[in-house]
Amino acid sequence: MSQLYYPNKNKFQNSPIPDMESYRALVAKFDKDFEGTWAEFAKEKIDWFKPFDRVLDESEAPFYKWFSGGVMNVAHQCIDRHLATKKNKAAIIFEGDNGDKRTLTYQELANEVNKTANMFKNEFGITKGDRVVIYMPMIPEAAIVMLACAKIGAIHSVVFGGFSAEALRDRVIDAQAKLVVTADGAFRKGKPYMLKPVVDEALKEGCDSVEKVCVIARNNEDINWVDGRDVSYEELLAKQSLVCEAEPMESEDPLFLLYTSGSTGKPKGVQHSSAGYILWAQMTMEWVFDIKDNDTFWCTADVGWITGHTYIVYGPLAAGATTVMFEGVPTYPDAGRCWRMVEEYKINQFYTAPTAIRLLHKMGEDEPKKYDLSSLRVLGTVGEPIDPAAWKWYYEVVGNSECSIVDTYWQTETGGHVISPIAAATPIKPACATLPLPGIYAEVIEEDGTPTPVGEKGYMCITKPWPSMIRTIWGDPERFKKSYFGDCKKDGKPVYFSGDGAMVDEDGYITITGRTDDVINVSGHRLGTAELEAAIKKHPDIAAVAVVGMPHDIKGEGIFAYIVPKSEDIAPKEELQKAINELIKKEIGAIALTDEIAIVPDLPKTRSGKIMRRILRSIVKGEPITQDTSTLEDPSIVPTIEGIVGKRA
Ligand code: PRX
Repeated sequence: MSQLYYPNKNKFQNSPIPDMESYRALVAKFDKDFEGTWAEFAKEKIDWFKPFDRVLDESEAPFYKWFSGGVMNVAHQCIDRHLATKKNKAAIIFEGDNGDKRTLTYQELANEVNKTANMFKNEFGITKGDRVVIYMPMIPEAAIVMLACAKIGAIHSVVFGGFSAEALRDRVIDAQAKLVVTADGAFRKGKPYMLKPVVDEALKEGCDSVEKVCVIARNNEDINWVDGRDVSYEELLAKQSLVCEAEPMESEDPLFLLYTSGSTGKPKGVQHSSAGYILWAQMTMEWVFDIKDNDTFWCTADVGWITGHTYIVYGPLAAGATTVMFEGVPTYPDAGRCWRMVEEYKINQFYTAPTAIRLLHKMGEDEPKKYDLSSLRVLGTVGEPIDPAAWKWYYEVVGNSECSIVDTYWQTETGGHVISPIAAATPIKPACATLPLPGIYAEVIEEDGTPTPVGEKGYMCITKPWPSMIRTIWGDPERFKKSYFGDCKKDGKPVYFSGDGAMVDEDGYITITGRTDDVINVSGHRLGTAELEAAIKKHPDIAAVAVVGMPHDIKGEGIFAYIVPKSEDIAPKEELQKAINELIKKEIGAIALTDEIAIVPDLPKTRSGKIMRRILRSIVKGEPITQDTSTLEDPSIVPTIEGIVGKRA
């Protein structure tokens, strides 16, 4: 049994769930009255324009509806309702790559959001339900634009700034977006980089739905301008009124789409609701992060990912907190950047990905000791498994063995945390997500719903609906059902399967063991092997390809591609990898480049033509092959590939 760690109790005063007794009491309360308990929280936390008359409607399961009849508005919940008591409190503290700073109080944020919302409504004719694609750097305007959409009921779809023109185009077309909001570019590691040219390229084909491209000036580099389509944000903003009524939104009206990778096909547009999503975003801020009125909360994610949506923008602002937005990277100008910012802004909660923790650990073991980090209370990690060594460094060196480490397990589809320590209450274990949050019925089960025995790997499922869950896949309800409710059942009823494997220990603590499907997690970025393979197959000399994850010291997982050439007349390996990476950069973006490739004569296929990826995964890890290879079309291919891959070291 691994050791339990207890953060310094004195750091946690007046917390909503202060200890394990309260945790267990709350879990029991949900057990006893599931809907009643959710109703209590929804009434207490959300400023309803009209109260809901039904808590949970399961009549069209798995298309669950929460808080039907209720009317509210997420921007009102995040900003307007705070103005009576917090108008001069910092809502967003921004630090640019070059160290430039900007603070927006709640009143200033309200003004910017209202002006932007009026611009979208009055200048571009955006109305409730229209889709707006946001392709932006990490500047306050990214949050302002998201909230402006929420204010008028437009559905935003933020596309991560590292995605290529092709990837952006696919998302614009799938959502049939009317408006694209972007910036000229921004700064990274002291240098400008560009976004607007990517938008220009994306919109060259098939994006007829787009009427306007609204461009924000950030780095002031020269950009191309399409008259009649492109408009300057700053020019139009100056003319707008400070007053904008919040659009009355039904609980289930979509708030946003966020595209994420699955094991097959194209990325899917995960659709989230208004009331259920914001309720859980706010509650997890309070429970997991122990957010208090005077805290400064810093999540280093990008707004292009769900972590940025829920824990930079919506969660912190719904909770009335101060959220830090950072444009740069943790290692520029040096590996002390984050710790210097923690000291300067007196950060109380610091939330980042294991990749960043591993990198900062490697680049500056003792760097945190140069700064006063005593303001820290909660350290968060998200997006991928963290290894015990990185966890211990985070706990001991960054947190001075006093902070809670919340290893938060969740997904784009869950909207907010589902399994996580509660900072003030849960004794923690290295690299362990610990226990399901109250109200979340996360269970490790077999396909038929029986609990997986302690210490064995099972399916990570959630057996009851929860308010912030994915509502559907945009435009493809069948795929939604099949992707999430097709694999596991409990009491004969399909239940949500996350795609992850997990294990429960003797204390009931859950450790996530990683994806069970063909999704690779590179630096916490979720990539489907199908997408990667489709990009690589565009190479004219390649007959077949299989992509698998490989262990990587910093990124957690790297990308390894097995390439079958059409003929022996193929470019040397380095040259071929370069060409493949160019294709990936064009089709997906630089986040998805291969780390290594192997040129092989064939792939291990069953007689029906299915590629046995597990064998390929074992080979790249150097593990012995335990799978039965006798069913392969050509079993001798396995030692041949082993020989080729084994030689690479
Ligand atoms: O495999 C799990 C991993 O990240 C996946 C979700 O990716 P995405 O939707 O991009 O959201 C990332 C941020 C929430 C999961 O299916 N994952 C997420 N958190 C953890 C994790 N793996 C291990 N430990 C975690 N804490």
